[in-house]
Amino acid sequence: MSNGAPSNRLVRTRRGRIIRVPAQSHHQDPYAPDRSAKMGCALEPVRTGEGRHGMRSWLDRIKEPSCRESDVHYHVEEEQSHLFHTFEGGSCEIEYLSLINAIVQVAKPALALETGTLHGFSALAIADALERNERGKLISIDVADQGLARQRLQAAGLAQRVEWVQSESREYLRAYAGLPFGFALLDSSVSDGTRIGEAEILLSRRLVQGYIVLHDTSRYRAGYEPADEVQRYQVGLNHLAQQSAGQVRFPFSQGLTLLQVS
Ligand SMILES: C[S@@+](CC[C@H](N)C(=O)[O-])C[C@H]1O[C@@H](n2cnc3c(N)ncnc32)[C@H](O)[C@@H]1O
Repeated sequence: MSNGAPSNRLVRTRRGRIIRVPAQSHHQDPYAPDRSAKMGCALEPVRTGEGRHGMRSWLDRIKEPSCRESDVHYHVEEEQSHLFHTFEGGSCEIEYLSLINAIVQVAKPALALETGTLHGFSALAIADALERNERGKLISIDVADQGLARQRLQAAGLAQRVEWVQSESREYLRAYAGLPFGFALLDSSVSDGTRIGEAEILLSRRLVQGYIVLHDTSRYRAGYEPADEVQRYQVGLNHLAQQSAGQVRFPFSQGLTLLQVS
C-alpha cells in the first residue's frame, strides 16, 4: 500500500553491501563493463585539449565515453556528484583520476601501488604519469580477474609500466618484500576494514615513502551506506592521519583523502 512517499528498493553497492535507495536511483551492477551505456545514461565524449609541448591529457588514451557520477551511484546533495564524471560506473571519478595523475607526475615515484584494479582506469591514470615521468612501475592488485585492465593498458601503450598481481591485497602487502612505494592509491573495498587495513600495513611496515591516496572518504556516505561501517572508516582515517606528516581531504562526490608519509 502506498503512502505517497517515493518507494525505495534494495540494491547491491560496489562494496557488495545491500542498501536501500530511492526507486529513481540508477544504482546497478557496478562491475558490468559498458554499464553506463546499458543504463541509458547521457554519455558524453571526454573533454580533452592540446597541452603545451605536445603533452596531452591522460584522457586522450581512453576511447570510452564518460557519464555523470550522479547517474550511476547514489549520493546526497552535499556531495555535488552531478558535477563529477565516471567511466563505466565503476571507476574513481575522472576528476579524482586527473588529480591522481597530477600527483604522480610531481611525486616521481620509482614504484607505485594501487589496490582495486577493476577495469584499469585508475591504473591507466597512474601509468600515464609514470610514462610522462620516464621512470617508474605500478604494481596493481585485485582479488578478481584483471584481464580487461591488462587489455586496456596494452591498447594504451602502457603495458610495460604495470605489474599485475591477482591477490587479496592485505595478504600481498603483509608478505611484500620489495622496495618501498613512492605513491599508493587504495581503492579496493571499504567493507570489513580492508582499505584501512591496507594503509595500516603500509604504515607499520614503512612500505610508503611519499603519498597515500584513499578513495571513498566522503563523510556523507553515512546517508546511504551502513552507518557503522562509515563510522569505522572515518575513525580509521583519523587514526591514519595522526600517523602521517599531513593530510588533505576532498569532500565532494565519493571523497578522496591524500596522506603525506615521510
Ligand atoms: C572500486 S573498484 C576499483 C576501481 C578502480 N580503482 C578504478 O578507479 O578504475 C574495487 C575493486 O577492488 C577489488 N577488491 C575488493 N576487495 C579486495 C581485496 N581485499 N583485495 C584486492 N582487491 C579487492 C574488487 O575486485 C574491485 O575490482
